[in-house]
Amino acid sequence: MTGKKRILSGMRPTGPLHIGNLHGALANWVEMQQEYDCFYFIADWHALTSDYEDPGSISGYIKEMIIDWLSTGLSPDKSTLFVQSHVKEHAELYLILSMITPVPWLERNPTYKDQIVQLSNRDLSTFGFLGYPVLQAADIIMYKAYGVPVGVDQVPHVEITREIARRFNYFYGEVFPEPEAILTETPKILGIDGRKMSKSYDNAIYLSESSDEIAAKAAQMFTDPQRARLSDPGNPEVCNVFEFHKMYSNKETVDKIDHECRRAQIGCVECKQIMANSLIKALEPIREKREYYLARPQLVEDIINEGGNKARNVARQTMTEVRAALKL
Ligand code: TRP
Ligand code: SF4
Repeated sequence: MTGKKRILSGMRPTGPLHIGNLHGALANWVEMQQEYDCFYFIADWHALTSDYEDPGSISGYIKEMIIDWLSTGLSPDKSTLFVQSHVKEHAELYLILSMITPVPWLERNPTYKDQIVQLSNRDLSTFGFLGYPVLQAADIIMYKAYGVPVGVDQVPHVEITREIARRFNYFYGEVFPEPEAILTETPKILGIDGRKMSKSYDNAIYLSESSDEIAAKAAQMFTDPQRARLSDPGNPEVCNVFEFHKMYSNKETVDKIDHECRRAQIGCVECKQIMANSLIKALEPIREKREYYLARPQLVEDIINEGGNKARNVARQTMTEVRAALKL
């Protein structure tokens, strides 16, 4: 069709996207649209594996996520954008793959063990949560993707996907290529409290935030801990506000702050205000597009339905091959 290699990746709709997500996965996805035939989807069934007790927020998060995607440059003209649960074939393939996946592969999955510890406030001793990587394998091989752009935490899942694909091919004949993880280089973005930016730490700056909210969060940011008073010289190299300046302010401003901070010629309050303005300005084009799509819910729905149709066409074809391979 396009002659481009196909890649596929997904995100769970568990909350609004923040600037850490933007510079991590999203920017990379946008970039890859030039070179690849991209399938990007919202993994709502995966969200259900951990949020099954209270699934009510998932549908709102899905809508938000599509808008965040479109606003940051994912384009339905270039990529296939869809929602996992709109393509029921994922569930059928997941079921079939579950027949051939040995349970120990899932039990020794490092992400599984890690999440059980981290999300200790939830009961994750479910069949569905253990089977998370099987569903992910179905997502990936359904589209015969050559590559899966992911962060390091997801590499074990791509590895299990390869093993499942290999086992399927061994039993039933060559149907699936083995996908490769394409590691996303992610600049480490710290949150306003200096820890890794994350929704669960409540330290993130969201793409949907207003200028006032951004300014308020910038004002709370941790700075050089050695700098207690205005008269103390600061060290920008250990200051997260300065990291943000390097990302969002122009070079002149960055150099000026670097110089003045070290000589106690600028206070942290003012420095943060300048940074907030740079950040607000950098996010302005995203905010404008967000408003555009927020005001056009029908357009957003059409985009996602159309993406679902495109994905389903591929998925149906794959499932025909799968059933034939199993003589079903
Ligand atoms: N597990 C992924 C995450 O939490 C989301 C995901 C689901 C995914 N299915 C996928 C990613 C298929 C890549 C390919 O980030
Ligand atoms: Fe950080 Fe700016 Fe304060 Fe220096 S002046 S410590 S760079 S916030």
